Amino acid sequence: MKTIIEPFRIKTVEPIRLTTQSERESLIKAAFYNLFALHSDDVLIDLLTDSGTSAMSSAQWAAIMQGDESYAGSPSFDRFEKAVKHLMPFNHIIPTHQGRAAEAILFSLLGGPGKMVPSNTHFDTTRGNIEATGASAHDLIIAEGKDPSLDYPFKGNMDLKQLETFLSEHADSTPCVMTTVTNNAGGGQPVSLENIRATANLAKQYGKPFIIDGCRFAENAYFIQQRESGQENRSIVDIVRDTFSCADGMIMSAKKDAFANIGGWLALNDDELANAARNRLIQTEGFPTYGDLAGRDLDAIAQGLKEIVDEDYLRYRIRTNEYISERLDALGVPVMKPAGGHAVFVDARKWLEHIPPLQYPGQSLAIALYEVGGIRSCEIGTVMFGRAVDGTESPATMDLVRLAMPRRVYTQSHADHIVEVFAELATSKDTLVGYRINEEPVAMRHFTAKFVPLS
Ligand code: F0G
Repeated sequence: MKTIIEPFRIKTVEPIRLTTQSERESLIKAAFYNLFALHSDDVLIDLLTDSGTSAMSSAQWAAIMQGDESYAGSPSFDRFEKAVKHLMPFNHIIPTHQGRAAEAILFSLLGGPGKMVPSNTHFDTTRGNIEATGASAHDLIIAEGKDPSLDYPFKGNMDLKQLETFLSEHADSTPCVMTTVTNNAGGGQPVSLENIRATANLAKQYGKPFIIDGCRFAENAYFIQQRESGQENRSIVDIVRDTFSCADGMIMSAKKDAFANIGGWLALNDDELANAARNRLIQTEGFPTYGDLAGRDLDAIAQGLKEIVDEDYLRYRIRTNEYISERLDALGVPVMKPAGGHAVFVDARKWLEHIPPLQYPGQSLAIALYEVGGIRSCEIGTVMFGRAVDGTESPATMDLVRLAMPRRVYTQSHADHIVEVFAELATSKDTLVGYRINEEPVAMRHFTAKFVPLS
């Protein structure tokens, strides 16, 4: 059989409200051309994020009913901890309400003025949490990872030479080494097990803890199984365990590869650091057996972690993005190659080459996708990364538009609709205009900035 079918059937549905193009043009104008300011019931296909947007399974809903809401010592925590440790063998598992809370706790302990944190690519909240302590975040991705059109199996890999130079020059200022799997900000591209091991070895050589941002660990493991020689006959669970055995800790958003609508954790091996983290947790999130989550959320995560490593699911998941990506490629739309694990990334800088980076081609394309087809996507480019801490502005490495796929939510006809919207835009893209920012906060401006079209 050629079609890789959705390996589930639908028991509960949510209606989508159909809107017209002229309605959407008014709605996005009223939202100051910021897609984050739209109401979700004004969106047809919501590809803003794959975070917290998964459809939970019947087994997860059933697990929710077993949630124990005791303040301390809840069995929900035991089930959560057991499920995490089955995949990620760390000594200490500290639940948080989402990934960025784990980042905030970790960097309140490891960050500080003058500290420098290297990674393949930091996600925006990770960068934000590092910079908020006065430290700086450094992206050391391989050169292949910066070329959207290049087909390369592990475009999320760390540049090991650069990391070695970095560590030799800044050993005293480096509190830890990080790697993000998959590399969200660089196109959802995977990191090979070989690269993870080599990064871990370098960190060890310099006596630095190695921390994995594991948000999309199962997708990364599937890519390793499919693409890395010697890994093809191994189970996803084995690969996941190997991945995390290399690390001294992890931060996690359970809103991605745990099929949960909320949640996260910080995991650490070091007892002293874990104690300090738990003390911070009690101050800011909650008691260590719930960490600002309801017991039922912990049970949803525990069950989700069992489901996410299912190979039939992962095959379908990765195929969805390939399917859209192949069709966009056939239309001449420059897409990031190969397709990412959780999203299709379109190279807006290349497709809308008449719009210079400082006029935000990614934002322009994202707005057009909404106006023409009701699709909500996300700019990952100069709007998100172009403003430095001192307020100066320069083009980001790439101007991408991310079409992030919620897990188990949309079907193949939704995917076909996405492709049809691009086909329509292909005939009118040269008329799209750039934007300027009228109002912005000092950090993470993409969430709340207000835009004005430049014509
Ligand atoms: N790290 C990565 C790689 C992420 O993709 C995210 C979130 C976080 C950390 C933070 O986790 O949202 O639970 O606080 N990414 C979402 C996205 C928001 O749309 O890509 P969080």
